[in-house]
Amino acid sequence: MPLVTSTEMFQKAYKGGYAIGAFNVNNMEIVQGITEAAKEVNAPLILQVSAGARKYAKHVYLMKLVEAALEDTGLPICLHLDHGADFEVCKSCVDGGFTSVMIDGSHHPFEENVALTKQVVDYAHAHGVVVEGELGQLAGIEDDVNVAAHSYTDPAQVQEFVERTGVDSLAIAIGTSHGAYKFKPGQKPALRFDILTEVQNRLPGFPIVLHGASSVIPEYVQTINEYGGNMPDAIGIPEDMLRQAAGMAVCKINIDSDLRLAMTAGIRRHFAEHPDHFDPRQYLTDGRDNIRDLVKRKIVNVLGSDGKA
Ligand code: G3H
Ligand code: 13P
Ligand code: ZN
Repeated sequence: MPLVTSTEMFQKAYKGGYAIGAFNVNNMEIVQGITEAAKEVNAPLILQVSAGARKYAKHVYLMKLVEAALEDTGLPICLHLDHGADFEVCKSCVDGGFTSVMIDGSHHPFEENVALTKQVVDYAHAHGVVVEGELGQLAGIEDDVNVAAHSYTDPAQVQEFVERTGVDSLAIAIGTSHGAYKFKPGQKPALRFDILTEVQNRLPGFPIVLHGASSVIPEYVQTINEYGGNMPDAIGIPEDMLRQAAGMAVCKINIDSDLRLAMTAGIRRHFAEHPDHFDPRQYLTDGRDNIRDLVKRKIVNVLGSDGKA
């Protein structure tokens, strides 16, 4: 099966009250850990690549790794550009074989965001590629840009944005944020489900995307700190809130930080238990296994996409 777009995945997810996991990939072990888990529970997948990942691994290596995963698993997989900053990077991914791109114009004024997003949609659609846009801005760190405070999505703008741009899905800001430090110690995690409900009412049947949706699973942070790490208190999005969003209009849930924590915890534990090891295949196996276990847990306990491939 060739790479697919997310169109059919989202239609089924919306109707079925579940969400597709969109996992960030940067190297072979991450691709293998994610796809092995999805294969075990028969889940459709979105693998997403950031500008940072393309810089780290090069487009062609990531493309070939994902093609290998496709051949190895036979799963429906969509390959998506995460946070495309401008037309050129989106065009390069469309031309380079991706089936989905995000144009993130969320930091621009509304009219500029509309114009930029429409330019990407026109090009991508002409090449059979789908587009995710964004309205509202998440707090947190992403590609070295640190946004201090949320700028929640204004539900009054979503209909006009979708109609004028022709986007296939829309990322919104309801209180999630990028990175491992989403809430301050002592702060109670909360999401603006009122905004999500209002967006859903204004865009019936339209797929919504949640970025910054890692749960920052405490056992990984504890393992990292137990074995020589020094992470401050890290708090993510509670799993029950993600399940609630997946049952609503949210069809795509983005996860990166949890993958990073799982891999680092596996490798740190490996070195603590085997200080004499220096073969990368030994410690990377533990990192990859942790990613596989994490992704299976996400698919079954949070996303509900198991058995839907
Ligand atoms: O939303 C951003 C993703 O976590 C990607 O992070 O740009 O460091 O690869 P990155
Ligand atoms: P996390 O940092 O919560 O994993 O979010 C990832 C993301 O939104 C990628 O676009
Ligand atoms: Zn994001």
